[in-house]
Amino acid sequence: MVKEHDRIRDEWQAVARGWRRWEPLFQSFTWPVALRMAAVAQIGAGQRVLDVGCGIGDPTLQVAVLVGPHGRVLGIDLVEDMLATARERAAALGLGHVEFRAADVATLEVPPASFDAVLARWSLIYVDDVAGALARLRCTLQAGGRIAVTAWAPPEDNPWIAIPMEGLARVLPLSPPDPAAPGLFYLSADGALADALRAAGFRNVGQQRVQLSQFARDVTEFWAMLADMAGPLAPLVAGLAGPERQEVLRTVADRIGRFRSGDVFRIPAQAQLAWAEL
Ligand SMILES: C[S@@+](CC[C@H](N)C(=O)[O-])C[C@H]1O[C@@H](n2cnc3c(N)ncnc32)[C@H](O)[C@@H]1O
Repeated sequence: MVKEHDRIRDEWQAVARGWRRWEPLFQSFTWPVALRMAAVAQIGAGQRVLDVGCGIGDPTLQVAVLVGPHGRVLGIDLVEDMLATARERAAALGLGHVEFRAADVATLEVPPASFDAVLARWSLIYVDDVAGALARLRCTLQAGGRIAVTAWAPPEDNPWIAIPMEGLARVLPLSPPDPAAPGLFYLSADGALADALRAAGFRNVGQQRVQLSQFARDVTEFWAMLADMAGPLAPLVAGLAGPERQEVLRTVADRIGRFRSGDVFRIPAQAQLAWAEL
């Protein structure tokens, strides 16, 4: 298990610079999920919020703005380099009530009942023991506390990542994504996140899809962002020889053509969002 933890941490460590570099475009892609998460978790002024697997500070920072200076937000992640960018962003925004700490959700130790809300955006999908993690997170909530977690919807509704995977599969032995194993499409089926929340003992569980749209000025920008940021795919992309890379790029360019909108691209995506109460 320690080895698996190290593998996941190294995978995300390898793309921490990419996340820093593409922050603005990533914000423009993911803001609908940050807003919906905050809404379903009923986050408001003065609350204490835990954000699990916060990466470079999302949705930690958006939520810190919502709770205001009398609230408190803690973001945890495995990767120090991600957290360094998160801290820098918090300082630039003057958000003194946010703390970022290196921690694994599987072993996280915080006092019981210390948060009003827990968020986990696209992070539990990389965790082996989701049931164990949810049980631990449940203990961190105070009575009436709320949780909001996300995964991705299945690949057919996520061409922003399915297309690059299709391109890579032309030149590499890539197995199809397994919705039953930790990774990009873990818990992607409708209702899967809600079932996990119910199994962990949460009440008033709900789930819905959230539609996103990835903006890119051109294919080069789309591919560069993907290659720099997509944790599980980045090492595969980095290992491509020149001609293979060209073939992948040709496939990607061909397949995203249908998402051209005038002089830019708007590539569809869908997230799964589930929420519940203690
Ligand atoms: C796809 S990124 C999502 C980052 C951020 N929540 C967002 O939505 O922009 C997944 C993040 O989860 C973190 N992560 C994966 N497993 C984790 C674990 N067991 N404990 C804490 N963080 C974890 C990774 O280091 C990575 O930064």
